[in-house]
Amino acid sequence: MKVRKAVFPVAGLGTRFLPATKAQPKVMLPLVDKPIIHYVVDEAVASGVEDIIFVTGRGQVAIENYFDISFELEQFLRSKNKTDELEQVSGISNLINSCYVRQKEALGLGHAIMQVRHLIGNEPFAVFLGDDVIDSEEPCMQQMLAIYERYKCSVVALERVEKSQTSSYGIVEAKEIDSRLFKLDGMVEKPDPEDAPSDLAIIGRYILTPEIFDILERTEPGKGGEIQLTDAICALLQRQAVYGYLFDGIRHDTGDKLGFLKATVEFALARDDIGSQFRDYLKTVKL
Ligand code: UTP
Repeated sequence: MKVRKAVFPVAGLGTRFLPATKAQPKVMLPLVDKPIIHYVVDEAVASGVEDIIFVTGRGQVAIENYFDISFELEQFLRSKNKTDELEQVSGISNLINSCYVRQKEALGLGHAIMQVRHLIGNEPFAVFLGDDVIDSEEPCMQQMLAIYERYKCSVVALERVEKSQTSSYGIVEAKEIDSRLFKLDGMVEKPDPEDAPSDLAIIGRYILTPEIFDILERTEPGKGGEIQLTDAICALLQRQAVYGYLFDGIRHDTGDKLGFLKATVEFALARDDIGSQFRDYLKTVKL
């Protein structure tokens, strides 16, 4: 069955980015002039996903408004003959079919995914974590969909991390079966370096089979008292194969202050309009 729907769980509280995230969603922070979430939606669209379900929390209406029509703004731009800006703004509301589900309490990523069961039904689906922005020639999700097409099993995106970083990620135990492709035997959520089964970390892209929902319903709160998606994928592994794909591209963790700053610099330097001026400016910065 084709993967048609994507879930964007964006209801986390963004504690690593306080106070900026006190009154706005972290995925609405801009990388240069475009909110982080827009880059991730672009990846979904470029990968051929048709419908996006956002799981939001309180105080996140800015996301909904961003992907909706902005009637007054469009009228204003039209009246001033600002056609480029008008095209840009109206293009965003035509980008995707979207719907919004509330997660009433931030009880974990696994809990957020459970909220969309009735909208997904019995289909495989993609999950995008909005703070992982991936710069790649072929969209990361498109690379993963090719693996799904081959095996019709769940697929998680993998990245090699420094051993010292394992305690920030879900780390997999896996056998390499093809170039960049791994069959998972298990996984550990945020292990200390000495307990990590590998240096392969799960990052924010998943394709999941619908069997995950029954498992999530029975998953007890794990690390941090939250219902962890990793725990559910670990249980899924006992029933069916799960693959990991070492995607080709560069991931920016924009939910982290340093990751956000690095992404801002990289994206600004790559821009046609301001890139070269920004490069010249950086050369003048005293380090
Ligand atoms: P994170 O672990 O990054 O948590 O969530 P967070 O709250 O967003 O950020 P920090 O760590 O406190 O700074 C991973 C993903 O799961 C979503 C988040 O929005 C993020 O995309 N999430 C997390 C939910 O949708 N609901 C939750 O209850 C928890």
